Amino acid sequence: MAKLWGGRFRKSTDKKVDDFNSSIRFDKRMYEQDIRGSIAHATMLGKQGIIPQEDADKIVDELKRILADIKEGKVEFLIDAEDIHMNIEKILTDRIGDAGKRLHTGRSRNDQVALDIRMYLMDETAEIEEILAETMSTFVELAKKHTDTIMPGYTHLQKAQPITFAHHCMAYFEMFKRDYLRLKDCRRRTNVMPLGSGALAGTTYPLDRQMVADMLGFDGITMNSLDGVSDRDFVIELANCLAIVMMHASRFSEELILWSSNEFGFVEMDDAYSTGSSIMPQKKNPDVAELIRGKAGRVYGNLMSLLTMMKGLPLAYNKDMQEDKEPIFDSIDTVKLCLPVFCDMVRTMKVNTDVMYKGANGGFTNATDAADYLVKKGLPFRDAHAVIGNMVYYCIEHNKAIDDLTMDEMKSFSDIIEDDIYKAVSMETCVNDRDVIGGPAKKMTEKAIRKAEQFIDSIDTED
Ligand code: ARG
Repeated sequence: MAKLWGGRFRKSTDKKVDDFNSSIRFDKRMYEQDIRGSIAHATMLGKQGIIPQEDADKIVDELKRILADIKEGKVEFLIDAEDIHMNIEKILTDRIGDAGKRLHTGRSRNDQVALDIRMYLMDETAEIEEILAETMSTFVELAKKHTDTIMPGYTHLQKAQPITFAHHCMAYFEMFKRDYLRLKDCRRRTNVMPLGSGALAGTTYPLDRQMVADMLGFDGITMNSLDGVSDRDFVIELANCLAIVMMHASRFSEELILWSSNEFGFVEMDDAYSTGSSIMPQKKNPDVAELIRGKAGRVYGNLMSLLTMMKGLPLAYNKDMQEDKEPIFDSIDTVKLCLPVFCDMVRTMKVNTDVMYKGANGGFTNATDAADYLVKKGLPFRDAHAVIGNMVYYCIEHNKAIDDLTMDEMKSFSDIIEDDIYKAVSMETCVNDRDVIGGPAKKMTEKAIRKAEQFIDSIDTED
């Protein structure tokens, strides 16, 4: 096949090079953005008198037809035509002849691909923001059911202090909220229109860049032609945002994997979200959670690929940059695959509230509160810490919990201890007295849930 750029060549490219060079396998997914961009460019060329108006009209009409044909699966892309940009230009030219040949006036594939990828990523980012809103709701809904579900909170994976499962869920709400805001912010920086940068040095044609930006719904235009074609920060930034999303989903997955073990027993995955073993009849494995944890790895890898691919590139465009697509597409696909199934898994799992409560009761999770009790009776905290440390040591030796000790045993550690200690170290008091802003007390959690719901509602009413 004759190349669109074939003029200065006397030999055709080696077949292997055609295959090697071609990106159509993966960049064909940007066909709609490519066509939308070309329609805007052609319309502007016509209006500026850079190409005859009737040619511009022909181009726009045919591009619309091509878009419909692609959607109906009627178009076959060619490896020889290298990428989505030249495939579409070739189809256009095959169909309308000379008018089609005028489309690329004042444009380079370098600014064209920069445009397409920005548009594509903005579309996908908006979709992922919606999925994240779903994810936030999933955690808020779960939290609403569990404001009284006391469980142990951990540090170093050692029991630390009692919290509620609602408080734990709301921690994940906060994480996914930040992820959502990060994506929105990233989309804002992606939202600049690079056409007009040309190959690298702009163009001599009187392009109306603002008109193209307005037609395509961009908020602004790039301000330096070299930067316009060689910037891929926004790709890396999105890859980073998505890596953080996966990190969060992976952390909760890891917790579910631990919690659904026989040793914890805090949750049980729904049958529909678990798998069995081909040999061990008793097994119920949390494969979904494990796969999400595993897939976080590839999304991190994509971020590293992009950073490494870009780090040594002199300005402006280099073909290396064609390698930006597969990693970022893979990160997008992976997040879009993982989050919905993650939400369903979380929504359908059984929470063993009694096991959680028992877990909170063991392991001296109320030791801090016992020390705080002494502080409230006038002892300096450091001394209180030592008294309760001794008490815990005694309890371990006698296989008792703090609240199992008799009053006499209590008094042997400090004579300021009175009967009211039992209430002070009960799990309910430990949780509900922690009513600082951001704390696990039921009334604080309910406030946090209300605020979260307002936030999620405000997303629904945004554009
Ligand atoms: N397929 C190319 C890419 O993805 C498009 C830009 C090609 N530009 C060029 N000068 N060869 O980066």
